[in-house]
Amino acid sequence: MAQTGTTLTQYLAEQSRSRDDLGSDFLGLMGDVATACKRLSDLVRRGELAGVLGAAGQENVQGEEQKKLDIIANEVFIESMESSGHLAGIASEEMDEHYPIPEQYSRGRYLLAFDPLDGSSNIDVNGSTGTIFSITRHDSAQAPKDSDFLQRGRSQVCAGYCLYSSASMLILTIGDGVVGFTLESSIGEFILSHPNMTVPKATSEYAINSAYTRHWLAPEKRYIEECNQGDTGPRGRNFNMRWAGSMVGDIHRILCRGGVFLYPMDAKLQAAGKSGKLRLMYEANPMGWLMEQAGGMAHTGTESILDIEPSDLHQRVPVIMGSSEEVQRVIDYHKEA
Ligand code: AHG
Ligand code: MN
Ligand code: MN
Repeated sequence: MAQTGTTLTQYLAEQSRSRDDLGSDFLGLMGDVATACKRLSDLVRRGELAGVLGAAGQENVQGEEQKKLDIIANEVFIESMESSGHLAGIASEEMDEHYPIPEQYSRGRYLLAFDPLDGSSNIDVNGSTGTIFSITRHDSAQAPKDSDFLQRGRSQVCAGYCLYSSASMLILTIGDGVVGFTLESSIGEFILSHPNMTVPKATSEYAINSAYTRHWLAPEKRYIEECNQGDTGPRGRNFNMRWAGSMVGDIHRILCRGGVFLYPMDAKLQAAGKSGKLRLMYEANPMGWLMEQAGGMAHTGTESILDIEPSDLHQRVPVIMGSSEEVQRVIDYHKEA
């Protein structure tokens, strides 16, 4: 296990020594990711003083109201990453189509898909937010097309998020477990603080937006009802509920102490012709790989998230992820329904 106290750069360099597939271009790319996260962390921390709060007065491609910080976060990441020659293209929640690396810069062999600011409804109330990222390969010298981004979650090279909360933390996997770094602001470095993040199999804590109870489908309705019956119900124990309003905040809690996170398909989403709420390429896939790497599970109720063959950059999927015993139980209820 890597030693706590090492920097992100040292950790990745150490990993790359034993991995032929992770060379200096990957290390450079991750340096850029870290820089972008630090810049964003600083803006989030300064909040109103940096003039970044409030609505932008426009909608993104998915018809969702954009906050100023959604747009700023997107720009900060692109600026930090486009010119170093490590990326071939960037896809984002906030951009309709992918962003090609401008001609004046050299083109690399990696693709980045990201959610610049997750949990943007938390910005104005000083709640937890984050940036989620997913890195895949682009094994071609040609400029990528949107379709080149549509790789299954199992093809990810690196996935992670930066949490902007009481401390800023960068959590990532390169397929060898999950590690967490805390931003030491006095020296501007991410320092390894959580060398082996694991999700216990069992939990008594769930996360779901219960305002949608009336829209839930039978399997989730049954699952939550049984949890809520506590020690006198079929589960024989009491459950606790937590909902951060930010997937990064909820998933981080689960990586720290277990739990199950649900943003399932429901009747309201179905009626609107949506295949889920959360996005596959830059929310469910990276978080799903982190979950599996930490010993948890990531599922839609009918299939494993990482096995989905993507069809669209902004595809939505139902999400049930976290402690394996609870995820498996929801899957069983789907089979029985
Ligand atoms: P984003 O801010 O990137 O649009 O994502 C918000 C997501 C996710 O972070 C959170 O779990 C969920 O939407 C909250 O949705 P509800 O407001 O429907 O609860
Ligand atoms: Mn999001
Ligand atoms: Mn977002």
